[in-house]
Amino acid sequence: MPDPIRFLLNGAPVELAGVPPQTTLLEYLREHRGLTGTKEGCAEGDCGACTVALAERTTEGLSWRPLNSCIRLLPSIDGAAVYTAESLRAADGTLHPVQQALVDAHASQCGFCTPGFVMSLFAVYKSQAAPTREQACVALSGNLCRCTGYRPILAAAQSMHALPAPADWRAPGDASAAHGVSAADAPIARALAALARDAPLDYAADGARWIAPRTLQGVIDACAALPGAQLVAGATDVGLWVTKEHRLLGDVIYLGAVAELRHLARTGDGWHIGAAVSLDDAFAALDSEFPELHEAWLRFASPPIRSTATLGGNVANGSPIGDSMPALMALRTRVQLASAAGTRSLALEDFYLDYRRTARAPDEVVVALAVPPRAPGLLLRAYKISKRYDQDISAVFACFALGLARGRVTSARIGCGGVAPVPARARRTEAVLVHGEWSAALAERAAATLTDEFAPLTDFRATAAYRRTALGNLLRRLWHEADPDAVAPARVEAVAAEPR
Ligand code: FAD
Ligand code: FES
Ligand code: FES
Repeated sequence: MPDPIRFLLNGAPVELAGVPPQTTLLEYLREHRGLTGTKEGCAEGDCGACTVALAERTTEGLSWRPLNSCIRLLPSIDGAAVYTAESLRAADGTLHPVQQALVDAHASQCGFCTPGFVMSLFAVYKSQAAPTREQACVALSGNLCRCTGYRPILAAAQSMHALPAPADWRAPGDASAAHGVSAADAPIARALAALARDAPLDYAADGARWIAPRTLQGVIDACAALPGAQLVAGATDVGLWVTKEHRLLGDVIYLGAVAELRHLARTGDGWHIGAAVSLDDAFAALDSEFPELHEAWLRFASPPIRSTATLGGNVANGSPIGDSMPALMALRTRVQLASAAGTRSLALEDFYLDYRRTARAPDEVVVALAVPPRAPGLLLRAYKISKRYDQDISAVFACFALGLARGRVTSARIGCGGVAPVPARARRTEAVLVHGEWSAALAERAAATLTDEFAPLTDFRATAAYRRTALGNLLRRLWHEADPDAVAPARVEAVAAEPR
């Protein structure tokens, strides 16, 4: 007998069998449960209409995160608690502060986007203190509203914590909080503890299996037992194969429950980032040592995607416009792989062979990314060029990591995306820079080389000529930003963030 999928939905336990494993959470909520407050806009993680909140047990207590239910595969919420907009109003009809703040600020018109905004804000309400305007902008960067305009929504985000906390949904950090779990959350934590499994989930329905091993060896054994099964981590790429391409995934080996793949640690050798560590957690770790990358990470998708997607998934998917890989290459990252044949480690740039073709064997799993410690004298910048500032796919991505000592370039690593069939290092430009005197003339020579180094394609995001010019100009921008005597280039996003 296959195991049932078990989770909490709006506080009530659910046990499910017979639902095809590639059913999305949104499909389940709307079509099986009639919870139509959660909307479908794009069905690809882009608009936020389908946002729900997910609570999971952690060593510190409970974590609350927003997620896009449209691309989340149902069995992956086994053991977690899902909350939809329907759950927020109190039994006596009192609105939750998040909802009341939106009402007070006149922050809804047609209302289609509103449940998604409510749930994104609810995740903020449950996990952090009153946000600043900038934090609210980041938190809502995955939610689109077509008719209201964002000013009242941002005002609601900043005022919701000031409203009286409802009896059954207290703000974090209230007097009753203990061990990271507030009194209101304690029953949720207890109910989730009761759902915890002793053995891995082995679910099956509609002729397809979903296995969620707990150990790396379990994954390797599952790969041998189910050759051709689809590896799935956050499903922020795979989910779109289901909703947009209507692909049948068949058997799935889910990587999100594997302890080794979720391991994140800083040792003397640098960062070890397990392949199934979420982008949120991986980026926070990298921020602590490489803060110059922070803005690029903020522009990677949106909070609901970053809380679900994994770094290993971005690397393994191998898209030429994937954003993490150019930066990781510039940081000298190695990718660690494992299979029944053993383990191996490759420089990340050697992992990519051709368009969407990697060195990973069919039965191999990406285990971790190893990022060496920061070198002294590092000049580091990452730039993402896309049509929108938030939640957009890169036309060009470049990361520059130069070692500088006594005015000379001692080492140079440049990772580029969007300009070749694979994420790639700009080795010719690196050779121009290394051992040169770090000067305007050298930067100009390197920029000219970089402009000619790749032969990008023209597509609807950018022309080949635009990509080549933009890439070269990014090196000029690096020079201007690094030169203490130069006037730093104006930043459109900084101007836009000025309070009016
Ligand atoms: P999954 O979808 O689970 O898997 C992706 C692929 O990797 C599958 O082929 C899977 O088999 C394989 N895989 C996953 N883990 C492993 C492993 N450990 N070993 C071997 N194979 C594995 N990407 C960007 O780069 N920049 C963006 O700004 C960006 N924005 C996005 C915005 C939206 C709205 C969406 C939906 C996606 C966006 N993406 C973006 C793409 C996606 O979020 C990333 O590629 C993400 O990191 C994929 O991780 P995942 O865990 O969801 O992978
Ligand atoms: Fe648009 Fe899910 S429906 S993000
Ligand atoms: Fe209409 Fe936001 S209120 S889309």
